[in-house]
Amino acid sequence: MPEPIIIDTDPGQDDAVALLLAFASRDELELRAITTVPGNVPVAQTTANALRIRDLGGAASVPVYRGAEVPLIVALETAEFVCGPDGLAGAGLPPPASVAEAGHAVEAIIAICRAAPEGSITLCPLGPLTNLALAFRLAPDILPKVKRIVLMGGAIGLGNMTPAAEFNMHVDPHAAAVVFGAGCPITMFGLGVTLQAIASHEQIERIGLLGNAVGKAIHGMLTRPRPGGLGTAGHPMHDPCVIAFLLWPELFAGRDCFVAVETGDGPLRGRTTIDWNGRLKREPNAHVVATVEAHELFERMIARLATLP
Ligand code: BDR
Ligand code: CA
Repeated sequence: MPEPIIIDTDPGQDDAVALLLAFASRDELELRAITTVPGNVPVAQTTANALRIRDLGGAASVPVYRGAEVPLIVALETAEFVCGPDGLAGAGLPPPASVAEAGHAVEAIIAICRAAPEGSITLCPLGPLTNLALAFRLAPDILPKVKRIVLMGGAIGLGNMTPAAEFNMHVDPHAAAVVFGAGCPITMFGLGVTLQAIASHEQIERIGLLGNAVGKAIHGMLTRPRPGGLGTAGHPMHDPCVIAFLLWPELFAGRDCFVAVETGDGPLRGRTTIDWNGRLKREPNAHVVATVEAHELFERMIARLATLP
C-alpha cells in the first residue's frame, strides 16, 4: 500500500524537485494534498508555484491548498535572493492553469488527518513549519493520526540564513518549537546532510537531456546563473532528501537526538541545538539524519524523473 503523505511546501526550486519526485513515485506514495506556506516567496506565489509544478508534473488530481499568510509571531522574511523573484527562476513555466482549492491548508491538514486511521499519515514539511504548528494547536486530536513527520530544516553546524539558523527554522522559529515539542516521531533533514546531497554537474546535464518538460525545467532552474555562484561540486538539493528518504531510507543514516529550537529574537533565533552526544540527558525528539549516499540518490532520482511528462 502506498504511504499517505501531505507535502507542506514553499516552492522554491528544491521544493519543486521534491514535488516532482513525489509525483513520479505513485507506487510508494499517495500524495493526499499539497499545502503551501510562505517562505522562499510569499504564500500567493508559493501557491501559484505549487500549481505550476502540478501542471508540469501531470498531477492534476492532487489538491493544492493555500496556507498561512505569515509566520506565527515574527515578520516574514523571504529568499528571492536564492530562488529568484518568482521562486522558480529558470524553470520557464507558464502561469498556473488552475486555482487552489477553496479551503485553507491548515483545515485541509486537520480534515485529512481526522479522516485517517491512527498512526497513518506522514507529514512532509519542506518550508517553515507555520501550517503544521497551527494545525497542531487548533486540533491536537490529530496528533495520534500522524505516523511521522519527515522535515527539511535546521542545522547541526552553521546556518544558511544566519550563522546560527537554517532558513526554514529562522523564518518561523516559534512554529518549529511547537512541532518539535508535539511528541510525533520526527525525522529531521538539516543542512548537515542536505549540503552533502549534491547533484553533480554531470547529473544535472543528464536531467536536462531526459527529453521531457520536467527535465528541461529542472535543468533550467539548477543551471541558472547566480550571484556568487554555487561552487564547483554541483547543486545541493535540500528538500528532495525528504521524499527520497521515504523511497530509499537505506541511502541515509543518522541518530536519535534531542533537538531544541531557539525562539529568542537575538542572533541565535532559529538555531537547532542538536544533542548529538546525549549530553543533556533528554529524551530524543527527532531522528537526525547525518549522511547520504548522494551519487546513488541522484541516479535513482533521475530514473524517476524520466517517467514524468
Ligand atoms: C531550505 O530553505 C529553502 O530555501 C529551501 O527550499 C529549503 O527548504 C534550505 O535551507
Ligand atoms: Ca523549501
